[in-house]
Amino acid sequence: MIRFSEDYSLKPNNTFNIDARAKFAFEFTDPEDLQEFIASNKSWNEEKILVAGQGSNLLFIGDFDGLVIFPNIPGIRIVKEDRQNVWIEAGAGEYWDDFVQFAVENDFGGIENMSFIPGKIGASPVQNIGAYGQEVANVIEKVIGIDTVKNRLTEIDKLDCEFGYRTSIFKTMLKNRFIITSAVFKLEKFPEFVLGYGDVEKQVKTRGEISLENIRSAIIEFRQSKLPDFKVLGNAGSFFKNPQIESEKARLLKVKFPELPVYSSEYGTTKLAAGWLIENAGWKGFREGDAGVHEKQALVLVNYGNASGRDIFKLSEKIKESVFRQFGIELEREVNCITPSGPAPREE
Ligand code: EPU
Repeated sequence: MIRFSEDYSLKPNNTFNIDARAKFAFEFTDPEDLQEFIASNKSWNEEKILVAGQGSNLLFIGDFDGLVIFPNIPGIRIVKEDRQNVWIEAGAGEYWDDFVQFAVENDFGGIENMSFIPGKIGASPVQNIGAYGQEVANVIEKVIGIDTVKNRLTEIDKLDCEFGYRTSIFKTMLKNRFIITSAVFKLEKFPEFVLGYGDVEKQVKTRGEISLENIRSAIIEFRQSKLPDFKVLGNAGSFFKNPQIESEKARLLKVKFPELPVYSSEYGTTKLAAGWLIENAGWKGFREGDAGVHEKQALVLVNYGNASGRDIFKLSEKIKESVFRQFGIELEREVNCITPSGPAPREE
């Protein structure tokens, strides 16, 4: 199936519920459809392309004067298995959480702590999604997609994905040059459970034995209690990244602010809780017009109804300035902000 549209409404395609439009949109369900589209599209301009899934990590700052591509490729299938592991290929268009549910129902471990994260499979490697001690980088075997320069179906091995905290090569060098069509995940038949984050273990135990199913149900409860449902209150999950700073700087900050939660990061630095910084800069529950800061989780910005992308963006600027003034920490946005002329430039 392919569908090409002009003057396309993005409102149903972004979880912030921002009323924005795209000049063009192209949806497809088979990688070959995209190859044909690229071959016939003489004015293909990678600067004016936005690849979107469910739009759960996007903020449209005005209408988008370019082409939005929706890789709606379906399918979840086991491609290989041995006694310990199973390799599953999932299409870019599948919802991430349907994949987690499939894994848990079949007793395959490795992604259960990432239950209930919005978004689609195609976006999961791009920002290396993660929650409650698991990260998609730990289970991805390879990412498959169209190299738009060669217009060829290409596989990228996990070692070449340059995964980091909420980043990968698909956000940097390959942004808009490689359009993900599916990914292969390696899951465990006899998983080691990851229960070390916060109250995860306690919550799981209240449900009985420690199992994938009980972990999934505890995580869903955590997320539902802390994070707003975008169908009720527009949002894109964490708006900022948790800042990673030099461990010595973190130590000094901790002397000044003993309550500040700090974590040693697997990437060799110290990670600070941005939610704490924002809350302690006084922003939790703040509202200006229809743009606000969630009352239960300060890392989440919300649209109470008719906020524009610009309103949310302006609020995020004020938060950044105030956190910098009070703590000397530069917050970095996690949400991908799309201006009329195109997505933010490639990250360094
Ligand atoms: N905190 C506050 N005030 C707040 C929010 C948090 O003081 O308003 C403190 C908490 O008390 C806790 C610490 O900050 O000590 C961390 O909070 P939490 O466990 O809620 O996690 P987070 O660091 O705010 C990250 C991810 C989430 C993920 C959770 C659970 C990022 C940017 N965010 O949030 O991911 O669900 O951990 O693993 O890494 C997302 O990316 O959209 C997302 C929701």
